[in-house]
Amino acid sequence: MKNAAAIAHPNIAFIKYWGNRDPVLRLPVNSSLSMNLDGLTTRTTVSFDPQLPADRLTLNGQEVSGAGLQRVTALLDRVRRMAGLSWRAEARSENNFPTGAGIASSASGFAALAVAAACAAGLELDERQLSRLARTASGSACRSIPGGFVEWQAGEDDQTSFAFAIAPPEHWDLADCIAVLSQTHKPTTSQEGHRLAQTSPLQAARVASAAQRLAVCRQAILQRDFEALAQVTELDSNLMHAVMMTSSPPLLYWQPATLTVMHAVVAWRAQGMPVCYTIDAGPNVHVICEQAYAAQVARQLQELPGVQTVLTARPGGAARRIND
Ligand code: PMV
Repeated sequence: MKNAAAIAHPNIAFIKYWGNRDPVLRLPVNSSLSMNLDGLTTRTTVSFDPQLPADRLTLNGQEVSGAGLQRVTALLDRVRRMAGLSWRAEARSENNFPTGAGIASSASGFAALAVAAACAAGLELDERQLSRLARTASGSACRSIPGGFVEWQAGEDDQTSFAFAIAPPEHWDLADCIAVLSQTHKPTTSQEGHRLAQTSPLQAARVASAAQRLAVCRQAILQRDFEALAQVTELDSNLMHAVMMTSSPPLLYWQPATLTVMHAVVAWRAQGMPVCYTIDAGPNVHVICEQAYAAQVARQLQELPGVQTVLTARPGGAARRIND
């Protein structure tokens, strides 16, 4: 038996990844930029075992089969090829936050799986190799490998498409107050959404202007300029959702409460509070603010109709091996 365990955090993108140039290798149509979320954690153990007839996956105590297991097997196959190993593996993964509701559990899940599987197989991969490995399972997972504020350069091919940190977690005391409106699984997976992106007449315009937004966002982070971050983050989220809503078939992830939170956040910023919103492939709203305001923002969000609960996260560290 060969075992290892790892933890990883999800991330929230300020500049979004939506659409693949190569869906098999998951080479994105644009580069993206995100912040890891401390406190929200996936913990995964992998055991390669000569006795196992097939790979097994347990997620939050439930055995997973079908497409979920296939995605895990595809990553394990890459690891087995690199390590010259034929043993099947058992992967056990636990999230301490709701799965599949716009909190990017696939990002932390596949980042933790990549680290645990590589370590269990005896591979010594560097951060870039781990990021590439995670990317092939879930694009955004490549951004959960490095720590802090992370850029995923789209690259040209498998070798050049990986994520790297632009600043460590302690660089900027930001918080993500996640207004959880629904804990149910999203109706359309992001995998399917990436495929539909190209059917929107707005996707070409979004992609053509993404590099410029990323440069503005990177600069805002490096200079800790909240107003600049707020404007480009909301613009980028709105552009991605415009693409989603105009795909065929259209994807409408927002609920009435999503709009209630968006309007409240815009009003609070107009009153001088450093807050902005961003939304992934689900109804929940990620409300980014300076940490000094996080308790107040969480309290105010909690009072809005339709908000079930608020999870608060700070900039998180890298995916890492832990002692089992
Ligand atoms: O990594 P995936 O396939 O789950 O795609 C994630 C896409 C978004 O969360 C909507 C945007 C992003 O960049 O994280």
